[in-house]
Amino acid sequence: MRTQVGIIGGGPSGLILSQLLHLQGIESVVLERKTMDYVLTRIRAGVLEQGCVDLLREAQAHERMDREGYEHDGFNIAFQGECHRVDLKGLTGGTGVMVYGQTEITRDLIEVRRAAGGTIIEEAEVLGVEGAETDSPVIRYKKDGQEHTLICDFVAGCDGYHGASRRSIPSTLLKTFEKVYPFGWLGIMSETPPADHELIYTRHERGFALCSMRNENLSRHYIQCSLDDSVDDWSDDRFWDELRRRLPENVADTLVTGPSIEKSIAPLRSFVCETMRHGRLFLAGDAAHIVPPTGAKGLNLAASDIYFLSRGLIEFYKSGSEAGLDTYASKALRRVWMAERFSWWMTSLLHNFPETGGFGSRMQDAELDYLFGSKAALTSLAENYVGLPYE
Ligand code: APR
Ligand code: PHB
Repeated sequence: MRTQVGIIGGGPSGLILSQLLHLQGIESVVLERKTMDYVLTRIRAGVLEQGCVDLLREAQAHERMDREGYEHDGFNIAFQGECHRVDLKGLTGGTGVMVYGQTEITRDLIEVRRAAGGTIIEEAEVLGVEGAETDSPVIRYKKDGQEHTLICDFVAGCDGYHGASRRSIPSTLLKTFEKVYPFGWLGIMSETPPADHELIYTRHERGFALCSMRNENLSRHYIQCSLDDSVDDWSDDRFWDELRRRLPENVADTLVTGPSIEKSIAPLRSFVCETMRHGRLFLAGDAAHIVPPTGAKGLNLAASDIYFLSRGLIEFYKSGSEAGLDTYASKALRRVWMAERFSWWMTSLLHNFPETGGFGSRMQDAELDYLFGSKAALTSLAENYVGLPYE
């Protein structure tokens, strides 16, 4: 089989890219290891920057998001028993964020790709990319026990952190950076009303907590947990009790609890692969970088990567120029590193780090005290949270 752009991975990165290319008359094939039904069982974050919203509109996958998503003008940080509001719109001169789950975005993207007759090959496990330094790289994949090849002009590695595309780049050329945090997030989804109409991030001596939401009767909550914990250690009752202990009293008192419909533990990691291009293989999204979820940047960084990559590919097919492809990695990485910094900073500010002792904890207190006393500091937080420009 042959196509113009071979896309490895049917997550948000791969699906947005294939749709944007299709709208410009460029053909692609998406190879996804799992079934799309399985992909839709994954629960991920749900806070979209304006740039991500605009890209989904450009991809014509925005109708349900515009109808069912929630525009948030601010969010809260709670510490020492009180909620403090970050007025995103006021601080940034009018920009907020959209609350709409990544699972729903993926569902919408699958729908528009299918309606357009797009090719998504499910249960196709990519084994590797060969000839990335030639004009016709080849993707090798396995489906139904048989090996197949997809010959392409370009390959987009959109296959997440554990994918095959990054591993296809010779290790001598890979430049990677990593930081692993000494805790995880235990998250639950429940059919209960959200704790508040806006998100609440909480710093507490027992550990971080986050109250988020999907809609009026669907809540997503997280608490910092030990990496040794397993979900079986956490009954719903234990989870709700622990969450309530960490929240300000007025929030805890009105919190509506109920049975969890999903419960999972995720480790926290910062990771960047600076080698986002190897010949005609381009990495995008989680394949190239991971952020801890504290700043809600994972999906938003995938969107900015795809913005730059789609423009580079479209320019190539329209004019033959490789200029946009040549600057892809540097443009994407600049924004990646800034979001890495912000996610690391928010993580460092709000979690418990027992190894930093009392001094570390006082530094966090002082930083929060400064933040809510300084419009300059709050503006910096707000402009990073709503998303830095695509440039
Ligand atoms: N062959 C084919 N598909 C693969 C392979 C492989 N060898 N390895 C992984 N995949 C698929 C996965 O099954 C997954 O569906 O690639 C897809 C990658 O999707 P995501 O992990 O969602 O990554 P991405 O599309 O870059 O989206 C980034 O997802 O993880 C969150 O925080 C992140 O919100 C961000 C978003
Ligand atoms: C979520 O709703 O899942 C969510 C929201 C904000 C974050 C992380 C996760 O920072």
